[in-house]
Amino acid sequence: MEHTDIKDVLKSAKLVGKKITVCGWLKTSRNSKSVMFLELNDGTGLANLQTVIDKENQALSAAASYGVGSALRVTGTLVKSEGAQSVELRAEEIELLGAADSSYPLQKKRHSLEFLRDNAHLRGRTNTFNAVFRVRGALSKAIHEFFWSRGFLYVNTPIITGSDCEGAGEIFRVTTLSGEQLLKKDYSEDFFGVKAGLTVSGQLEGEAMALAFSKIYTFGPTFRAENSNTPRHAAEFWQIEPEVAFADLYDIIALARDMVKSVIADVLKSCKSELEFFEKFYEEGLIEKLTGIVEKDFKILEYRDAVEILKNSGESFVYPVSFGTDLQTEHERYLVDKVFRAPVFIVNYPKEIKSFYMKLNPDGITVASTDLLVPGVGEIIGASQREDNLELLEQRIKDLKMNMEDYRWYLDLRRYGSAPHSGFGLGLERLLMYVTGMSNIRDVAPFPRTKGNLLF
Ligand code: 4AD
Ligand code: MG
Repeated sequence: MEHTDIKDVLKSAKLVGKKITVCGWLKTSRNSKSVMFLELNDGTGLANLQTVIDKENQALSAAASYGVGSALRVTGTLVKSEGAQSVELRAEEIELLGAADSSYPLQKKRHSLEFLRDNAHLRGRTNTFNAVFRVRGALSKAIHEFFWSRGFLYVNTPIITGSDCEGAGEIFRVTTLSGEQLLKKDYSEDFFGVKAGLTVSGQLEGEAMALAFSKIYTFGPTFRAENSNTPRHAAEFWQIEPEVAFADLYDIIALARDMVKSVIADVLKSCKSELEFFEKFYEEGLIEKLTGIVEKDFKILEYRDAVEILKNSGESFVYPVSFGTDLQTEHERYLVDKVFRAPVFIVNYPKEIKSFYMKLNPDGITVASTDLLVPGVGEIIGASQREDNLELLEQRIKDLKMNMEDYRWYLDLRRYGSAPHSGFGLGLERLLMYVTGMSNIRDVAPFPRTKGNLLF
């Protein structure tokens, strides 16, 4: 169907006076004495195109009955407008492609985000979700561009895997066993002949690729059966995981910082109107916050110092803190929302609260790890230098009573040409929450999967 995108119609002065065709969904209609206005949006941008119908024109009289949500194809002449909008389309022909009646859920009024979640199949047609998913796409593009500009190779790691990266027991099992076989947990009878699950992280396989290509990144879906029903946890989320050979913790911190700054700078340019929209409706000061990120340096804080700050804060946390306790959301949020009001890398966590693969520091107590915390969200990145010493890594796997056989290939990477290497994992949805000011992860994934929820 030959037609012009509404976004292009609204910004091209060259089209004024020309006969054009547009397609889109009817957002609202409005009547005046002699004309009727139809606001059309095709999703190519936030702004609607106003279509004007002369009521005298009998051929177009059916338009009066078109319901909000109907899909239309309109041909007419584009003219300069006297109203708020710069141009409008004087309709000459209107084709009803698909009607929508009054049961259409998105009538002209502001709907709650909860209501829209239940209508996720239609919510992309609202201004909020048009903006959210446009920024999501732009962020993804900016991330790919950042890594390519730095000479990283994009690799794909498996979605079905036999190794547990984070060891937190959050793996969704993948099996074709049923009945008795399933009860016996005899995986030799299973599809792969071994226990299999959906990946929680592409890191381990990413390390193998980095120890062949030096600089790689993955960008794909990861899955966690976390039993936490929070606004920041999804069962399916997208992770960007760069892995770099010949790099230590501080190299990876610099990479993470540069990436966050670069992609935010990019989106500030490419999604200006979307960010203005979020500023107006969701987070006051958003653009200034994002501009600040691009300009200011990020703080680096030792875990042990963070614990001291929390202990001396005078706050009554639900979970008390001392050296060795994992930082909960309330602690993270206190540090970034109240104390620093800026992104902070917390470094050198005690080994007990971190994953098996992290490099043991010379103190024997902490590991070369970091989490990047940002105001309003908390952790958006988890990173570390990886243990590259064969004996230490074997010992760690033994201590944690993990199955050595499952990690034979991973240990091989330390057996043959081991090298210092580091990487991080960025949760795309967490970054998107930070960039848009949306406060629930269910509102930044098109069809969110969370505990107890698998609509669509
Ligand atoms: O800190 P995490 O668990 O680190 C890893 O998985 C490492 N293997 C990454 C690496 O070094 N290659 O997860 C990384 C990030 C978190 O900082 C967070 O942004 C996001 O993934 N994340 C989640 N996002 C949404 N829902 C969840 N349930 C998430 N769990 C982690
Ligand atoms: Mg983490």
